[in-house]
Amino acid sequence: KRLILVGPPGSGKGTQSPIIKDEYCLCHLATGDMLRAAVASKTPLGIKAKEAMEKGDLVSDDLVVGIIDEALKKPSCQKGFILDGFPRTVVQAQKLDEMLEKRGVKVDKVLNFAIDDAILEERITGRWIHPSSGRSYHTKFAPPKVPGADDVTGEPLIQRKDDTAAVLKSRLEAFHKQTEPVIEYYSKKGIVANLPAEKPPQEVTSEGTKITFICQ
Ligand code: AP5
Ligand code: ZN
Ligand code: ZN
Repeated sequence: KRLILVGPPGSGKGTQSPIIKDEYCLCHLATGDMLRAAVASKTPLGIKAKEAMEKGDLVSDDLVVGIIDEALKKPSCQKGFILDGFPRTVVQAQKLDEMLEKRGVKVDKVLNFAIDDAILEERITGRWIHPSSGRSYHTKFAPPKVPGADDVTGEPLIQRKDDTAAVLKSRLEAFHKQTEPVIEYYSKKGIVANLPAEKPPQEVTSEGTKITFICQ
């Protein structure tokens, strides 16, 4: 019931997490979404995070550990949670372990969205998001009912500033250098499950729910 989703940019973490969340009533914490909201409303956190995000670099460990520590206090996160995009460095993983230890709980499963880098550019450059809900669409793979509008609210969709081929290169570099060691960290604990993230969304969902069912 305490899950971590890890995978490169565009691997489908944000697409799958609301589905897994509904299924198990978990709270969904996506550090990328939280940081983008902070940037949009120009909070002190947003001002500090903006530059790194636009370059495709990671934001400092202290900043993201701080937001997760705060968020995990929410009543809705007491029974379980799904972390999307956190931890992304070994330091973040260690800090998370410390935070959970204090609460007497631990991570049950890490879903590794395994996918080849070559597929990701098309996914990233075709993505459109509904900023207030975090719902994402794709011009080719998941088109909205009305082009350019969110299916639920009808509000306009936008493209993320970091969703360019050039910034994707830096994001991928950060993933391979800083985040792959996190997968290794959890592998040693024996809690990593690999998902075939290059498959269509429905197949990824059914694989994912099979795995998370086991850890219920
Ligand atoms: P974040 O928002 O976490 O971005 P990311 O990790 O780069 O991941 P994405 O959101 O791009 O990909 P996704 O896996 O969610 O893909 P999605 O499901 O949308 O982080 C952004 C930035 O914030 C970072 O670069 C960093 O600066 C900062 N940050 C965040 N967390 C941090 C941390 N812990 N530490 C430090 N810095 C941090 O899918 C992509 C597209 O493909 C969509 O259009 C979707 O419709 C489509 N799609 C999805 N699944 C499929 C499928 N199976 N088949 C075909 N198309 C699909
Ligand atoms: Zn995402
Ligand atoms: Zn690698």
